[in-house]
Amino acid sequence: MKVLIIGGGGRECAMAEMCSRSPLLSELYSLPGNAGMEKYSTRIKDIKAVDVPQVTAKAKAIGADLVIVGPESPLIRGLADALEAENIPVFGCSKSAARMEGSKRFAKELMEKYGIPTASCRIFTDSAKAAEYIDETAKASGSPIVVKADGEAAGKGVFVCTDPEDAKKAARDMLDGGLFGDSGREIIIEEYLDGPEVTVLSFVDGTDFYVMPPSQDHKRAFDGDKGPNTGGMGVYSPVPAYTKEISDFVSERIIGATLKALAAEGIKYRGVLYTGLALTSKGPKVVEFNVRFGDPETQVILPLMTSDFLDVCLKTATGKLKEARISFADKKAVSVVMASGGYPGSYAKGYPVTGIEEAEKTAHVFHAGTETVNGETVTSGGRVLNVTATGDTFDECIKRAYDAVGKIDFKDKFYRKDIAWRVR
Ligand code: AMP
Ligand code: GLY
Repeated sequence: MKVLIIGGGGRECAMAEMCSRSPLLSELYSLPGNAGMEKYSTRIKDIKAVDVPQVTAKAKAIGADLVIVGPESPLIRGLADALEAENIPVFGCSKSAARMEGSKRFAKELMEKYGIPTASCRIFTDSAKAAEYIDETAKASGSPIVVKADGEAAGKGVFVCTDPEDAKKAARDMLDGGLFGDSGREIIIEEYLDGPEVTVLSFVDGTDFYVMPPSQDHKRAFDGDKGPNTGGMGVYSPVPAYTKEISDFVSERIIGATLKALAAEGIKYRGVLYTGLALTSKGPKVVEFNVRFGDPETQVILPLMTSDFLDVCLKTATGKLKEARISFADKKAVSVVMASGGYPGSYAKGYPVTGIEEAEKTAHVFHAGTETVNGETVTSGGRVLNVTATGDTFDECIKRAYDAVGKIDFKDKFYRKDIAWRVR
């Protein structure tokens, strides 16, 4: 099989490694890929992942038998629909289904209509009305207020505000100040969900679904869950707090119910559904849906997978998930993100990275933001590498992951020292 992976982060590097192990694979391409993906794939660097017509033409030209889409943006722009129109199987959902991530309003209205547990919310287009509501809610509840842009905002569209004045400012910045452009023309003001967050990823083929092991991301930049929100600084799996009882509830009343709701709306969902949950005192509630694998969650989930990832992607894409053999090791995994100094704010690029080969003797090193320049691996993004260790205990994984991290060096590197603190 000829396979094309869209994307070039740590998530796609993990996918590429898994595909490379499959006996089904004949040729692997990545668009754009990264330095670490070069050992598994031929990179296509002259086309942007969001350029739907060009990506589709390229997939056709290389004779791709399957396209696996990593990030959400190409899906939101209709890449899966365009590929399907050319009869190219695609692991990723349609534009219509991608509204689950591309429009928070769409996801919230669906959950409300079908009784899927989530934070209560109101939608606003007028900043004065939003301010009034913020004041009322702050007085009534006393807990933080969550303000979100409706559309895509590169992971920056959520404000969790303890001071109502900050919430009002966020609302004004989006509605009147044009922050996030059209994505912020509508905002959602949401109840604050208190409790640990868990990510649950499911393969979905339009009819059936398979729920993968749970994981927990660390979104804040610094130790002790302090500092600004990031794309994720580290992750572990499974999550002991996610009990069988919670898991059964989520599979039936949240994931199953959501897929039924989509079907009832005439929307077929295919690919992976990311369910971000808060385990509140009133039970699990949905924080967000995404229409893709999580990053860095994938970097702990795929190393635990003991079946053929490529086969599962193909069967998911062709509506045959029932026939797939899917299994995960009964083990633990911990992944530490090594980032560029300054991330999630501005940072420098182009610093040489050393020690990867040494680190790879005891851990997986997934490249996230790297490039090859004159045969040398250099930094090219905020999140540079993801170092994952698997083992029988969390303590063992933590030790092995951090030992491997210690062997890698680049200028101004930074990483959290407390990944998986909840299970130490
Ligand atoms: P989202 O982009 O919707 O995932 O939000 C990013 C992060 O903001 C989440 O991972 C949570 O940590 C936080 N967040 C979003 N919505 C809420 C909420 N209703 N209550 C508490 N925290 C939230
Ligand atoms: N790690 C969070 C996400 O992928 O959205």
